[in-house]
Amino acid sequence: MENIRVSELVAALSYALDLTEGQPMGHSARVCMLGMRVAAEIGMTLEERAGLYYALLIKDAGCSSNASRLFHIVAADEIRAKRDVKTTDWTRVGFESVRYAVAHVATGKPFVERVAALARVAANRNTDSCELVKIRCERGASIARRMGFGKAVADGIYSLDEQWNGSGYPDHLRGGEIPLFSRIALLCQTLEVFWREHGADRALEVIELRAGRWFEPELVRAAASLAERDLLWEGLDSPKLLESVWELEPEEKRLPLTRARMDDICLAFAEVVDAKSPFTYRHSNGVAEAAVAIGQTLGMADDDLRLLRRAGLLHDIGKLSVPNTILEKPAKLDAEEWAIVKRHPYYSWEILRRVPGFGKLSEVAASHHERLDGKGYFRSLEGAQLDVPSRILAVADVFDALAAKRPYRDALPLDTVLEMMRKDAPHALDAECLEALATTMNRSLGHLSVSAGESAVLESGLTVSTTQKCF
Ligand SMILES: [Fe+2]
Ligand SMILES: [Fe+2]
Repeated sequence: MENIRVSELVAALSYALDLTEGQPMGHSARVCMLGMRVAAEIGMTLEERAGLYYALLIKDAGCSSNASRLFHIVAADEIRAKRDVKTTDWTRVGFESVRYAVAHVATGKPFVERVAALARVAANRNTDSCELVKIRCERGASIARRMGFGKAVADGIYSLDEQWNGSGYPDHLRGGEIPLFSRIALLCQTLEVFWREHGADRALEVIELRAGRWFEPELVRAAASLAERDLLWEGLDSPKLLESVWELEPEEKRLPLTRARMDDICLAFAEVVDAKSPFTYRHSNGVAEAAVAIGQTLGMADDDLRLLRRAGLLHDIGKLSVPNTILEKPAKLDAEEWAIVKRHPYYSWEILRRVPGFGKLSEVAASHHERLDGKGYFRSLEGAQLDVPSRILAVADVFDALAAKRPYRDALPLDTVLEMMRKDAPHALDAECLEALATTMNRSLGHLSVSAGESAVLESGLTVSTTQKCF
């Protein structure tokens, strides 16, 4: 990939991680900006700063993997719960943590159910926190390695939730036992959240209050000293945030983005997306594979196939914005929930368009729920506005969604899937792309994994347009 750097791809995609954490897009980029300033202030070496840069950007890479578990623990919107936990001092059982629990546990449930859920959360608080952090940090570290980063970056992500006095998770590391990258990331994530929600003075006050408990006192002093000299907050709210962050990667250590590295990073982010719900396991990969297979049958060139594969891997990146209360709802979605679902391709577009060179890819990825008759979402585009790669991706998306198990039904056999999809062609789905898919799938039938329970019966809901059942 000529002239594109790893930092340009990773920093832009970090916006997706922010969505899962309930943070506004740009949170990780701002944490990176703050952290690199603290790193320079304490005299970290060039080598260390080069690694720290990526640890800060992808500190939340494991965030989607505990979303489902958290949703089942709190029985409510886990994205809201994740957002507010960053401003709650969990280490002190008292008003703050009780208020947090009351605001997030089983909200919307009947009173008795709610009291029972609150009691359960209170009783299991330590085990649950440890389990949630462990899932998140293990997955985060593994995703960092999958992206091609070394041990220091992976370790930095793994220990993000450790605290200076040993009361963090998952290993209760203490002081210098905690990797320096993690110490800086925790400090700067707290600074960023409080700065944004309550202003610079409150952010500094909070880190000073928690110095020696959560944070290493020397790092707190470094941040305070930078702030005193007006060097800490500068440019944090700039509309050119990403461009500034790209420039923060130490010049001598800038990583060029090879084709293979780009594929690794796209695969890793697909894993982040699919980890959000057990029902979307391998969906992004499945869509990418189906899209490439259709493209090959249609005789597309290698460059187009590469674009299709990457668009397939990243098409649902905006789904990280959808709470698991919706993704895992076994019943029909109500109007408000549908409105949230319908925003996810918009977020995919918002994130992907920020990557240099991803102009076309972002359009294709964001069009995966559009229909040729203009009744799709999020832009209600019509046939003439949808190019071949977009049509292919729409077909591949519906195919994988139907061929996989979903919360509201079992996996469907291939014949049933194709029969259902044909009812949506040519008015909604492109007929040529669909027949190319059928040809490919029939050719490689033995390879296709369809559930053992192939007796899956078409439930009445599935006679509705397939394109309205898959998200
Ligand atoms: Fe999808
Ligand atoms: Fe989607």
